[in-house]
Amino acid sequence: MTANTPIHEAVREHYAERIKGNASCCGPDACSCSDSSLYPEDLLATLPEGESAVSYGCGDPITLASLQPGQTVLDLGSGAGLDCFFAAKQVGETGHVIGVDMTPEMLERARSSAKRLGISNVEFRQGFIEDLPVESNTVDVIISNCVINLSPDKSKVFAETFRVLKPGGKLAVSDIVTDGPLPEAVKQSLSAWAGCVAGAVEAKDYIGMMEAVGFTNVSVTPVFFAKEDVDSALNEMKLDVQEYPREDVYKAVYSAKITAYKPA
Ligand SMILES: C[S@@+](CC[C@H](N)C(=O)[O-])C[C@H]1O[C@@H](n2cnc3c(N)ncnc32)[C@H](O)[C@@H]1O
Repeated sequence: MTANTPIHEAVREHYAERIKGNASCCGPDACSCSDSSLYPEDLLATLPEGESAVSYGCGDPITLASLQPGQTVLDLGSGAGLDCFFAAKQVGETGHVIGVDMTPEMLERARSSAKRLGISNVEFRQGFIEDLPVESNTVDVIISNCVINLSPDKSKVFAETFRVLKPGGKLAVSDIVTDGPLPEAVKQSLSAWAGCVAGAVEAKDYIGMMEAVGFTNVSVTPVFFAKEDVDSALNEMKLDVQEYPREDVYKAVYSAKITAYKPA
């Protein structure tokens, strides 16, 4: 693993604690499950019997991806595996799903759920999204749910996603971006970083980084958070610096649906 930084360590520790403590859904931060309301009912109905929607995401990349039978799908930061399980169902037995995550506790949970549910067309690999353990030009669709904002080197993530996608491949991502700058005190907080706030960049910069590595038809559609949700997220993060203008955060942070293509 080459991409390890103090930010990676803080993020890994945060998610290891969350999954160990079973603090899966309905957590306080921006990238935590707001129960199953992120997904439409008909998609939730495709979950295998007995599987609950354990999500730390901020959207529904599955609907955005429009997956087809037989496709190879890669999930960046697959967490407990929920989006991979949805994807595995949609691509069917002729398709294949790869989840990549850097947190051993998450991988353990995802692998044991796949085994228990008898899902055989999914595998979980340990690795960094900045240095993907995946062959070049082998993936039809890359999905990701509330993960790229956590990376301190987003340009590298986009370069890696571009590398592993087949020509004509699609990126379908739910992520946190901002409209305008965040207060400096928030940007400096590791807990706010792990909670998917401090690492979020302006949508125009996000788009710029994707286009710089070669993605085309980049589309970013905002899905705004309620002010109360952001408030409870910030309270719960116990930011090291308490004095900062919350109004600036309310204004700035939002979840977005993002799609882009590698030219054919
Ligand atoms: C907010 S959770 C989202 C998990 C999952 N996508 C979901 O929707 O439930 C972020 C996940 O990304 C992983 N992660 C964060 N940064 C990463 C990186 N740089 N490389 C690999 N995995 C990373 C974390 O370990 C964690 O499992």
